[in-house]
Amino acid sequence: MANKLNLKEHVASKEKKQGYVTQMFETIAPRYDFITVLLSYGMDRGWKRQLIGMLALRGDERVLDLACGTGDITFALGERLGRGEVHGLDITRGMIEISERKRLERGVENVTFHLADIMNMPFEDASFDHITCGYALRNVPDVEGALREIRRVLKPGGKFCSLDFAHPPNRVFRWLYFNYLVVVGSIVGLLLHGDADVYRYIPESLKVYPGQHKVEEMMRNQGFVATGVREFGPGIMAINYGAKAEE
Ligand SMILES: C[S@@+](CC[C@H](N)C(=O)[O-])C[C@H]1O[C@@H](n2cnc3c(N)ncnc32)[C@H](O)[C@@H]1O
Repeated sequence: MANKLNLKEHVASKEKKQGYVTQMFETIAPRYDFITVLLSYGMDRGWKRQLIGMLALRGDERVLDLACGTGDITFALGERLGRGEVHGLDITRGMIEISERKRLERGVENVTFHLADIMNMPFEDASFDHITCGYALRNVPDVEGALREIRRVLKPGGKFCSLDFAHPPNRVFRWLYFNYLVVVGSIVGLLLHGDADVYRYIPESLKVYPGQHKVEEMMRNQGFVATGVREFGPGIMAINYGAKAEE
């Protein structure tokens, strides 16, 4: 990566972050599925199942999955929505290409993928019953701007659920956790890509990310109601949830 020496500088900058993030996800897209299972010790599937369970789907809704990557959450939603439809959106072309290939191989008809930016989505106001995202808010350049755009395309009463790395409340454990992510991320990045920064991005982006409780506050400021946080383990991962107020 041309800008690999500037990880901290790029992640901390609203202007530079997106270019860095998109380029990095292009690099890891072909190995993304493998690395997600490896880095989460297989727990990622369970967290995503809980995220989907929180929507309490009827089966006929229109759902949007943001930063869909290789489509884990999108396809799982598609299986639950026999009479409904799912739209997966991601800014990285390599991710969307992998998702679309899987869709064709599996013959899935109620899923559509879009190459687009969360910060400026190609959808009408109030066009989705619910919105999900896995590891999205930590990656965008402006969390409040993303929440504003998410609220715009969500129908009144619609739920929004976001899974992401979290800030453990205990300060000592948080320090240990962030440093664990630096060490493991550097080793895996070097082994798989010859570049420690590829997965050192996770702790760097986590330091800049406001964390699950500030995100909840931002959601309330943006007009979400019935907000809450479900944490996993000692606060290593969390799901932020809420709904767009009825008009
Ligand atoms: C860690 S992956 C998550 C993939 C998937 N949601 C999952 O849970 O496995 C993060 C994804 O966010 C996407 N992304 C980052 N910034 C984005 C933006 N502004 N708009 C849309 N997608 C974005 C990246 O391309 C990447 O595929």
